[in-house]
Amino acid sequence: MHQIHPDCQKILLTEDEIRARVSAVAKQVDADLAGKRPVAVGILKGSIIFYADFIRCLNMPLELDFMAVSSYGSGSTSSGKLKIRKDLDGDVNGRDVIVIEDIIDSGFTLACLKKLLLERGASSVTIVTLLDKHERRTEDIAPDYNCFEIPDEFVVGYGLDYNEKYRSLPYIGILKRSVYEK
Ligand code: IMP
Ligand code: MG
Repeated sequence: MHQIHPDCQKILLTEDEIRARVSAVAKQVDADLAGKRPVAVGILKGSIIFYADFIRCLNMPLELDFMAVSSYGSGSTSSGKLKIRKDLDGDVNGRDVIVIEDIIDSGFTLACLKKLLLERGASSVTIVTLLDKHERRTEDIAPDYNCFEIPDEFVVGYGLDYNEKYRSLPYIGILKRSVYEK
């Protein structure tokens, strides 16, 4: 068992729980998309560890691509736009796309991304998330596959950060409020 980081108040999901659930969800996606040759789009940086574990449980032929985005919508600042900081290398026109994201919160990021990929001619966009903070949804979007519903708490680890810290923790922990409320 990994020692809990002193900035975390508790471990929400252990390595074993994550591994089991990620592989079960991947098996489901593999069966549902059988016969396709999708592009797996990872949303940097939060999804990298989930992405790496998830795609290794898929048997279908895959191409890998990545995007980095920041959202300036839903509460944070004004414009309500998604800023693309790193775009895909490949063309998604006519392709089945699997978007792999760490967490869906307001849903703003994924709603914008799905719209963008469809505008670029993707044949289908399947959204896979590791975590879903369902209570906080403001956009009319739901992941096609989600590994864990979580409460409205700020979580870190397994790729997720607070100010670029804690991404390499192997579990998902709830960050102590004192860390971000000081
Ligand atoms: P949305 O656009 O509001 O759905 O926000 C999604 C993004 O917010 C994710 O890709 C994360 O970068 C970030 N985020 C939301 N909640 C958390 C959290 O609890 N921990 C770390 N990042 C989070
Ligand atoms: Mg993110």
